[in-house]
Amino acid sequence: MEIRIYQPSDEQGWVRCRVLSFLDTAYFDNVLKEKEQYENPAIELVAIEDGQIVGLLDIEYELQEGTVCSRGTGLGGMIWHIAVHPDYRRRAIASELLRKGEELARKEKLNRLEAWTRDDQWVHTWYEKNGFQQVDSYLHVYLEGETELKGNISSTLPKLYPVQSFAHYGGNQKDNIKKRFKRVHDCICFEKIL
Ligand SMILES: CC(C)(COP(=O)(O)OP(=O)(O)OC[C@H]1O[C@@H](n2cnc3c(N)ncnc32)[C@H](O)[C@@H]1OP(=O)(O)O)[C@@H](O)C(=O)NCCC(=O)NCCS
Repeated sequence: MEIRIYQPSDEQGWVRCRVLSFLDTAYFDNVLKEKEQYENPAIELVAIEDGQIVGLLDIEYELQEGTVCSRGTGLGGMIWHIAVHPDYRRRAIASELLRKGEELARKEKLNRLEAWTRDDQWVHTWYEKNGFQQVDSYLHVYLEGETELKGNISSTLPKLYPVQSFAHYGGNQKDNIKKRFKRVHDCICFEKIL
């Protein structure tokens, strides 16, 4: 397995690896058709095995405090994507990507990494095993169908009828929200001090 910097000709392999990697997670329907581009510089790594991309890591990082990360002081990096193809998991590919990513992050004088993920316990286990701590959370709420939308979401445009909606909930009535709507995810912030 080789870890190297992402190059533009990797895009198709990157997109395929990402789609497959997220299929069995709470982000299953967050499909990208193109590789994300960042406003700020980014550490973009891929893991190659059997001639294909089997793992990826994207860390967008700050040149100026407070421009990318949601919390903390000094310069930080945000992990927007870390993923390993399902057939290549639990072989330390993600840990190796992170190790290399951290090495490059330290060179850029970053003092921490931040990552947000949903409620997949095994993914939390991976973050914790790799030195991250849970520091914050809010809810991702999907509202679907008339019963869930009625009284909560409406349109001011005539003849425009919302049929589904996605919302962030940052209040202190999380249990209530979870009871009220069928699809609700905890979105959890992990942080690692470098
Ligand atoms: C999280 C993820 C990147 C880990 O990749 P990986 O290369 O398999 O991870 P590593 O081999 O470095 O680490 C494996 C360790 O992580 C934890 N872990 C990973 N998958 C696990 C699972 N299915 N069940 C339990 N623990 C698991 C365990 O501690 C495991 O160690 P072990 O095998 O000795 O028990 C990968 O599972 C993945 O792509 N998940 C989907 C994408 C995602 O949710 N990304 C993060 C949100 S952005």
